[in-house]
Amino acid sequence: MSSAKILSLPNELLIDIVAAGQELEEGSAAVQQLRPEWTWSQVCRRFRDVIVGAPGLWTLIDLDLHSDTLAEIADLYFNRSQACTLCATLRESKDIDNDSIVAERLSIIVPHIHRIRQLRVFLSADPQIVLAPLRHVNASNLERLEIRNTIDEFDANPVELFSAGAQMLRFISMRGTTPHFPVPWAAALTHLELRTDLEWTSAEGSSLGVTISTHCPSLAHLSLKMVDISLGRFHLPCLRILHISLSDPVALDHYHLLAIFDLFDAPALAEFTIIGTHAHQILVLFNSTTLPHSSFPALTSLTFVNVRCGCDKIPDDVLPITSAPPLFPLLSSLSLIRQCFMSHLVAGVLSSLHIWPVLKTLTLCPPAGEPVEDVCDALWNACHSKSQVLPKFRLFASLLARIKDRDDEEVEKSGIDMELGEGEENRYSWYRFRSM
Ligand SMILES: *[C@@H]1O[C@H](CO)[C@@H](O)[C@H](O)[C@H]1NC(C)=O
Ligand SMILES: *[C@@H]1O[C@H](CO)[C@@H](O)[C@H](O)[C@H]1NC(C)=O
Ligand SMILES: *[C@@H]1O[C@H](CO)[C@@H](O)[C@H](O)[C@H]1NC(C)=O
Ligand SMILES: *[C@@H]1O[C@H](CO)[C@@H](O)[C@H](O)[C@H]1NC(C)=O
Repeated sequence: MSSAKILSLPNELLIDIVAAGQELEEGSAAVQQLRPEWTWSQVCRRFRDVIVGAPGLWTLIDLDLHSDTLAEIADLYFNRSQACTLCATLRESKDIDNDSIVAERLSIIVPHIHRIRQLRVFLSADPQIVLAPLRHVNASNLERLEIRNTIDEFDANPVELFSAGAQMLRFISMRGTTPHFPVPWAAALTHLELRTDLEWTSAEGSSLGVTISTHCPSLAHLSLKMVDISLGRFHLPCLRILHISLSDPVALDHYHLLAIFDLFDAPALAEFTIIGTHAHQILVLFNSTTLPHSSFPALTSLTFVNVRCGCDKIPDDVLPITSAPPLFPLLSSLSLIRQCFMSHLVAGVLSSLHIWPVLKTLTLCPPAGEPVEDVCDALWNACHSKSQVLPKFRLFASLLARIKDRDDEEVEKSGIDMELGEGEENRYSWYRFRSM
């Protein structure tokens, strides 16, 4: 495009182009150096006037709490965005030793808090001190709150936020700190992620399970990092999606996983992902017919992910799966991602298909660097015994390639329904990344 053509862009189109550039950059976690509203407004006088006069282009505020120009930049965005609602990101780009100073800098958003729809805060500080300016404010338009604290040592103290109200708040994601309950807005929360090693007891002495069940009855999505089962039991009638990350990789007790499942009374639960599981614990779970406190009548998707594993031998006494009926009568999708002893798991599941009446998909991703031959054999044997209808297999590249190495004709004859579990591998790398 010649510069003359660029300069003759109609105003509306110019605004659309700048807004599109903002969307592209929004996902990135890094501090944005060259924001489209800045670069485009420097092209010429007319562009500047158009962009400065378009409040919608000044609603994505990204502030470095360490910057010398913090106040000027904040004022500029607050002013140019006029009455629009805002998405604000506050970062500590360098570690500022004095947390009171960080709090003072963060308080720059307080006069505008009623306009903020999404707030993200990246800290490496004591959240009790730094987030104090947000303690008693009314964040009446806030829908989404994310706080990432890179210093985990303060996690024992939940922070009190928005005690004067946050009537629209539905989504909270926190790392390195936890919210203080009770707060008036908790009852409407639908999404809660707490990515901290939680060893949690509230001021009244109740467990996290009891506290969350009491104060957040509307939760549909819950993600937790768990040290052990001391978090207590959860009763969440609306919960549909649950992610648990077990942070003790060497919790090898046979019944550990069963005990984790038994913490959740979540009759509407549809998707359960659990990270940090071991093969023998899964086999014990699958062999169980009842849980004393929980049932999963609506569960359709179950995913086990192993992150690091110290297992070198599967205990003899966990084989085979013998019992029926199943704990998960509606399970249609089972995923085993990087689990140890994958071939035992596969053999166990495929030899007991009668206890999985509606299982449609079995997703398998063997651990990196482990030979896939045994898993192949287990699949192959199951497919050749042909005693029952097999689920569809979603296999990751290494496994799919190995199966296809076998006589292609035979694969066709066997009638195995396979597809490449594409994309998923990345998805679980992402889980892994988030869970550590
Ligand atoms: C925004 O800035 C303009 C020009 O500097 C000024 O006249 C106006 O009063 C400011 N508005 C607010 C709400 O601060
Ligand atoms: C931190 O800053 C505050 C206010 O700026 C000051 O009063 C306080 O003495 C400082 N604390 C330390 C430990 O430097
Ligand atoms: C918070 O703000 C909302 C919206 O302006 C208002 O309805 C509500 O009463 C306020 N809450 C308190 C405690 O001031
Ligand atoms: C499976 O359950 C059956 C019947 O309850 C039991 O006899 C067997 O020992 C169990 N196996 C495992 C691995 O727990």
